[in-house]
Amino acid sequence: MDNNLEEVKAILKKYGQEHLLNHYDKLDDAHKKKLLEQIDEIDFELANSLYESTKKETKNSKDEITPIDYLDKFKLGDKYKYYEDIGKRAIKEGKLAAVTMAGGQGTRLGHNGPKGTYDIGLDSHKSLFELLCDGLKEESKKYGVTIPWFIMTSKENNEATVNFFKEHKYFGYEKDKNLFFFIQGELPMMDTEGKILIGEDGLIKLAADGHGGIYESLVKTGMTKKMREMGVEWVFIGGVDNCLAKMVDPVLMGVAIDKKVTVACKSVVKANPHERVGVFCRRNGKPNVIEYTEITDEMAEATDKDGELLYGESHILCNLFSVNAVERMGAEPLPYHVAYKKATYMDKDGNLVVPDSPNAYKFEAFLFDAFGEVDDMAILRVKREEEFAPVKNADSAGVDCPSTARELYKKFYKLD
Ligand code: UTP
Repeated sequence: MDNNLEEVKAILKKYGQEHLLNHYDKLDDAHKKKLLEQIDEIDFELANSLYESTKKETKNSKDEITPIDYLDKFKLGDKYKYYEDIGKRAIKEGKLAAVTMAGGQGTRLGHNGPKGTYDIGLDSHKSLFELLCDGLKEESKKYGVTIPWFIMTSKENNEATVNFFKEHKYFGYEKDKNLFFFIQGELPMMDTEGKILIGEDGLIKLAADGHGGIYESLVKTGMTKKMREMGVEWVFIGGVDNCLAKMVDPVLMGVAIDKKVTVACKSVVKANPHERVGVFCRRNGKPNVIEYTEITDEMAEATDKDGELLYGESHILCNLFSVNAVERMGAEPLPYHVAYKKATYMDKDGNLVVPDSPNAYKFEAFLFDAFGEVDDMAILRVKREEEFAPVKNADSAGVDCPSTARELYKKFYKLD
């Protein structure tokens, strides 16, 4: 242990993070061991470069942004059935799995517990997890298969998530047979001086590495291997917080298969040109998403000859990938984006600091940054009222919150 400690000290000195051992002597043995393990797992070169990135303008204004083609699901004419038949065949053959990303912190919603456990206030009091599962089970029945379900959690919420499923008898799924949990990666949080934070437990303050961590963690945790063993070729990846997400869509699958693309994404048209959402585009010729903070007013308002917005297809985290594409994307590191957040931490004198304004950097990869890895993808515009009811904020925000999602859900399922 002592030798190990000396080595750790040398590493920390090299990277200017010696403070991480300030409270080491006060920790019990289990925490001491854990802290050393955490330090061992940190890629300090990466941590340094992430901190350096906080000082730079990350958007590359030299990027060439151009519109990207899309199909409107309800303007496919005869092709609708053609795609649908292709997709149905593949689903019946057991080629589709679903992944729900549930590793986020859900800070805006402010729910005490994993976001998927949240009850949006329907009469049934079903959680977001159960609402998603209902959809999967209904579709599975149609095709005479069980769609395997993979849930991505974070280290922070994994135990609570798995326990919640257990309490609900896994909603009829069978754990480790057709229901799998896997944990996403984490990165340390840092203060504005680039010092890694220590949390109230004396351990390093880590945070999930963003939904872009999905590819790497699917591969690293052996989930893509498992998919292959099960004969799965396509995987729908969606968020936990869209209670109308349609994870099994034969038309989307048919489009992907027929057009020989490895990624097919759903979009909904922007509610108005200035809606604060990311939209599909091409960046330097490759498929990508441009965020509302990046787009100029002129671009946001530009229309084509039919009066449709040129940048009007919102990315709603409803994307279908071939397993090959996931593996390819998992092999390439994604850029990290910086978020400035409030984080409780222990200062150098061992005092707990509970900030009332943001004080720490958190680093996250975004799922859509991997889209550039593929040469081409298909985008299918679907109807917002049928497929998009996000739960992002607390009700006080009035938008994308439990009450708006509940109304959309009730309307779609004609519950009133
Ligand atoms: P959001 O970006 O909306 O984040 O995630 P969030 O964590 O739910 O909420 P805020 O920003 O803290 O308020 C979109 C989807 O991606 C998942 C979320 O669980 C949600 O389903 N996600 C996000 C992860 O699985 N891991 C992450 O690290 C981040």
